[in-house]
Amino acid sequence: MLKIFSRTLVLITGLSLSGLVFAAGDPAAGKDQSIACAACHGQDGATGLDGTYPNLAGQNEKYLLQQLKLIQSGERPILLMSGQLTGKSEQTMADMAAYYASLPAKTGQASGSDEDIAKAQQIYRGGIASKSVAACSACHSPTGVGNAQAGFPRISGQPPEYTTVQLTAYRESQRSSDEYVGGMMRDVAHGLTDGEIAVLADYLQGLN
Ligand code: HEC
Ligand code: HEC
Repeated sequence: MLKIFSRTLVLITGLSLSGLVFAAGDPAAGKDQSIACAACHGQDGATGLDGTYPNLAGQNEKYLLQQLKLIQSGERPILLMSGQLTGKSEQTMADMAAYYASLPAKTGQASGSDEDIAKAQQIYRGGIASKSVAACSACHSPTGVGNAQAGFPRISGQPPEYTTVQLTAYRESQRSSDEYVGGMMRDVAHGLTDGEIAVLADYLQGLN
């Protein structure tokens, strides 16, 4: 009884302490820390070396910080980024997240046929009931900007190559960085075919 009580107490104290220690990121400090990142993600945070590099500009701060922590810990392994985050404190990563969140998001243009775009739009807005694929818009918002408060990522404007790689990786459970939200993105992606992923990836680039 006493043990349970003290453990609860430790938990509560721990929570309120982390609440005190956590401060929102400072974009100006984050800019100074992000010089090395520009080599791959672009000076504007939205011009990667090629289509497999994600845009960071305009992504929400909460999602960015969460991913930086997962990349640093190796829970989301990114070979090309190994070493980039070594020794960086949570505050430094929060600053970088705030910096990229403050930059204007890039928007693109879908290049698929009208038929493909309509098919993607239907999945985006309504899901695929027969395969239990939930509507993307429910979590990522109708315009694809995500949900900053919940930390659900912006997915509009990303290059289709990057989106295709990520959706396939969730489907194959090679990306499991959604563990902290109960694997919800793997659940969604499990029902998607290669063809559906391809039309969605193209559609998302132009969504706004
Ligand atoms: C050598 C190239 C390279 C450098 C330098 C680099 N990155 Fe990355 N980064 C990548 C690649 C490639 C990916 C996507 C990997 C994948 O397919 O999951 C990525 C992914 C990310 C993501 C995940 C984005 C998302 O939408 O989930 C974040 C956040 C990120 N990088 C931030 C940074 C920051 C901050 C720095 C500087 C400290 C940095 N990167 C430096 C190559 C790089
Ligand atoms: C129940 C909520 C939910 C639904 C529905 C959902 N997503 Fe997600 N999605 C998330 C969350 C949360 C993440 C971040 C998970 C993580 O950290 O790996 C995510 C991540 C992603 C990413 C990776 C973003 C990046 O920058 O790496 C893509 C792409 C994506 N979702 C596309 C979709 C598409 C397409 C659909 C519809 C077929 C969809 N999502 C439906 C919650 C959802």
